[in-house]
Amino acid sequence: MVEKELVLLSHKVKNCTNCDLHLKRTNTVFGAGNPFAEILLIGEGPGRDEDIQGIPFVGKSGQLLDKILGACGFNRDEHVYIANIVKCRPPGNRDPKPEEREACLPYLHQQIKLIQPKIIILLGATALKGLIDPNARITRVRGKWMEWEEYLVMPTYHPSALLRNAGQKKDAWEDFKMVYYKYRELVDPTHSSPHIDS
Ligand code: URA
Repeated sequence: MVEKELVLLSHKVKNCTNCDLHLKRTNTVFGAGNPFAEILLIGEGPGRDEDIQGIPFVGKSGQLLDKILGACGFNRDEHVYIANIVKCRPPGNRDPKPEEREACLPYLHQQIKLIQPKIIILLGATALKGLIDPNARITRVRGKWMEWEEYLVMPTYHPSALLRNAGQKKDAWEDFKMVYYKYRELVDPTHSSPHIDS
């Protein structure tokens, strides 16, 4: 049922013309991963590689994200679902405009309602502003659990920010370790990773 509803929603997104981002897209990027996952990651929007392939986080920042997830013992097939604030690539990889975020947000809300994750990880400022508060600052709130509706939310840096600024990697790793421990507490006490003390 959940899978079917997500497929129906992805068809709506494929045909969406709610903002101008549809004019230049190659593909919409709806989301990927396990529809029954307890962790939902939310990024900003597709880049060039994602626009070509129609899959989130397949470029350089996606490779880093997979590495971080792997270090936590998580993978895309089993533990997480990955979505974005906007489903079409902003030209030149600029930040999505507030009106583009607003136009796309109902799709993300529906994805969240269908997937019903226990934990939401916000990757970067656009995800934080788009889902929680347009005035929130990622540098202020990262690494602190927040609540949004019935979901626990961990804001952290976007992987592309980590690629630009390696000094932020240490903080991001602390944030992901908090998710790891919360996952053990709420979902699976036997979950483990050789990279983290249990
Ligand atoms: N950056 C994002 O925010 N999302 C993607 O899907 C790829 C890169």
